[in-house]
Amino acid sequence: MSQLLLQNRKIVLGVTGGIAAYKSCELCRKLIKNGAEVRVVMTETATKFVTPATFAALTHHEVMSDVFQDAEGIDHIAITNDADLFVIAPATANSLAKFATGIADNAVTTAVLASACPVVLAPAMNSRMLLNPATKSNIKTLQERGFYIIAPEEGDLACGDKGLGRMRNVDDIFSYICALLNDHIALPYQAPELSCLPSPTTPAALTQTKLLPKSHGAGIKIVITAGPTQEPIDPARVITNRSSGKMGYALAQMAATMGADVTLISGPTQLATPNNVKRINVTTAEQMLDAVKSQVGQAHIMIGCAAVADYRLIEPMQTKLKKEETGEFLNLQLVKNEDIISYVGHLVENRPFTVGFAAESNNFEANAREKLTRKNLDLIVMNDISDPAIGFNSNDNAATVFGPNGIVTSFGKMSKIKMADLLMELIIAEYKDHKTAKAKK
Ligand code: PMT
Repeated sequence: MSQLLLQNRKIVLGVTGGIAAYKSCELCRKLIKNGAEVRVVMTETATKFVTPATFAALTHHEVMSDVFQDAEGIDHIAITNDADLFVIAPATANSLAKFATGIADNAVTTAVLASACPVVLAPAMNSRMLLNPATKSNIKTLQERGFYIIAPEEGDLACGDKGLGRMRNVDDIFSYICALLNDHIALPYQAPELSCLPSPTTPAALTQTKLLPKSHGAGIKIVITAGPTQEPIDPARVITNRSSGKMGYALAQMAATMGADVTLISGPTQLATPNNVKRINVTTAEQMLDAVKSQVGQAHIMIGCAAVADYRLIEPMQTKLKKEETGEFLNLQLVKNEDIISYVGHLVENRPFTVGFAAESNNFEANAREKLTRKNLDLIVMNDISDPAIGFNSNDNAATVFGPNGIVTSFGKMSKIKMADLLMELIIAEYKDHKTAKAKK
């Protein structure tokens, strides 16, 4: 089964007293739906907006709203002890002021002062309160101390005004949390009007001590080839194929979401670069090979999803071919391109865990197994390219994965994004097993 984005994460959600507290119910639900275990701490004022019973029903845990209360045996000092993240949403102007000065007069402020994990603040308030120098200075102080601030957005405010100060929407806060826990923090949440609101910094810059636990892809460098190559015939014409790049880009996107350091070496496609992915553009098979050679030395995993042209012209024409001159038949002399994934599979030094694809239209299993052996791969993902609903240039795919000992798994027809999620999960797990087995030898 696919791992959820926040699987095994423990998040403490602090709710302070603003109308945006109702949005925190939705945030809480979304965190849980994505695998997180959530505990909620509320200020007494927050309980006037949303009752603790609502959060208790969502989290299946007692809610802490009083410093004299032990919720399920855990007190306000200990509640963040084994948490990955403490998210305060909404964080009112009053609470920010207390966090900045170290006041501990309710369950949330006390838990923040005693926090053992990184703290994310999602401020929500009236514009004038937000732009007041006192609040700006408090936010600056908090950021300098390593608190993560999710800048509020513009919109209708509870007081009837329109302006900056509305708590960031739940999807943005959720993405921010996922990115933070996956070591990716380059998120565009800066509010230009508030120059004191800093961009989030990297986890390493935290002054708080608890290290963020790693997601399962973190620390792993993955190189992926994707899309077609184009081999020039003359200045106007190329030899290419029908690969759109969708499968390879989906793999890059999912690998980055899992926290891996991803380099995508791409032939010509129409696709946008996935977030947090480094992309190297190439056109020909020879350029793709050079790019792979430049990257593979540092890679832990290499995935060859590109549909690399097997042949190129020995000598492409410098000027456009004229059919009046070439006549009825045209003979082109082609030479074989070096096999990129086979080059990587046969590396003696710094060989990464190597995964190829097999695009087949007949003799599926035999062909895939033969390529696995000949190219010295750890895994090969075989897909049927004779069916236009899957394989080349479609949104869906279906595949069987082979390893040296036979079939590893099969995926029925599903979206390429879904398959990429399952495949990356499998590839990272197999890579880790392989590494452990090698270390034992
Ligand atoms: O891009 P999409 O439209 O989403 O389509 C996805 C896909 C069908 C292209 C993809 O899922 C896929 O099957 N990619 C491999 C295509 C291919 O070239 O297969 P092959 O069986 O010819 O090659 C086997 C393996 O050798 C592949 O990993 C390929 O990248 C690699 N190869 C081939 C030739 C070469 N000169 N160098 C290589 O590295």
